[in-house]
Amino acid sequence: MSDLRSITVDLGERSYPIIIGSGLLGGGFDLSAHVSGPDCLVVTNETMEPLYLDALLADLPGKQVRAISLPDGEAYKTLETVEDILDTLVEGGANRDTTLVALGGGVVGDITGFAAACYMRGVDFIQVPTTLLAQVDSSVGGKTGVNHASGKNLIGAFHQPQAVLIDTATLKTLPDRELKAGLAEVIKYGAIIDADFFAWLEDNIEALIARDAEALGAAIQRSCELKAAIVAEDEREGGRRAILNFGHTFGHAIERCQGYGEWLHGEAVAAGMMMAAQLSGGDEAGEGRIGKLLERAGLPTRPPAIAASDLLAAMGMDKKVRQKQLRFVLLRALGDAIVTSDYDAQRLDEVLEAAI
Ligand code: NAD
Ligand code: GLY
Repeated sequence: MSDLRSITVDLGERSYPIIIGSGLLGGGFDLSAHVSGPDCLVVTNETMEPLYLDALLADLPGKQVRAISLPDGEAYKTLETVEDILDTLVEGGANRDTTLVALGGGVVGDITGFAAACYMRGVDFIQVPTTLLAQVDSSVGGKTGVNHASGKNLIGAFHQPQAVLIDTATLKTLPDRELKAGLAEVIKYGAIIDADFFAWLEDNIEALIARDAEALGAAIQRSCELKAAIVAEDEREGGRRAILNFGHTFGHAIERCQGYGEWLHGEAVAAGMMMAAQLSGGDEAGEGRIGKLLERAGLPTRPPAIAASDLLAAMGMDKKVRQKQLRFVLLRALGDAIVTSDYDAQRLDEVLEAAI
């Protein structure tokens, strides 16, 4: 087990640590110290179970532990799956002292957090994220939930974990495409809040793609520090937290138009960040540097061919009434984002037309 780094998400009595290290799972780390009651239910999926479940169980000495393995995939991020978890809790006699532990990517984390928010009006849970996206984004900040037939993440709750345990060594088994999709969210942090971090990413992108442990550890740590600071400032997205959605208005529209699953979320966000940088003012907002870095990370810098009218409709906007309706995260400069509905409508047309 490598040296541990710890970051606090400062939310008063709901504060919690993000613990980062390599080889934590099965490496002697005592996760039981973060479990207040006598028992836990580990929630994972069929892909993670053979890879990491035994190692995680070894980190929970002295606790009564059960596990449930979900089918793998966004398609299972549903209320039915939450019900399966709740059934398991009820059948096992779980009570308000029970802690849920999410072992997996953002899908497992979001479902488990929501089940924890619902069971007996809220029990503890711990995030053990295993994708880069989950390690730098979804496991931190307390957004939990599932999809509804009419849209993604429509059902959910804010419910903060007791701890986030990030074992960067789990990234060794992550498919390349998933790693790169996670890098889109890492690049996002540099673009919206930290120009120095962006420059560091420009110097280290090849090392990150090559899964250099030190580079990954540093990128994850900085991303978590930046996200923790924003969540501490605006836990429920009343204001500043919304800058974390940079590129997401366009990205979600791409995902909706293409059909979910065609591109990974991070890929759609990468193309969406380019569109948002163009709408922000092109090279003044760092469009050129963002584009080069995304390309070097093997991410798309243009959306797939989708008609502007379809993208607008997917953004919830009618062409005639588009002005002032949407709020975008725009860059005043690289590392300086704002949320605004004051954007250049003609430039938006150009950005959307350029998609084809
Ligand atoms: P995911 O959870 O579907 O994981 C991607 C794939 O990688 C899955 O097949 C998974 O089983 C596999 N996998 C996970 N870790 C692995 C490992 N170490 N080795 C090998 N395979 C591994 O996808 P994701 O990108 O982690 O998460 C996407 C989800 O996160 C979406 O549902 C999205 O809505 C949600 N999300 C939530 C937040 C939030 O704040 N709560 C933020 C961003 C995204
Ligand atoms: N992923 C955006 C947020 O947590 O607010």
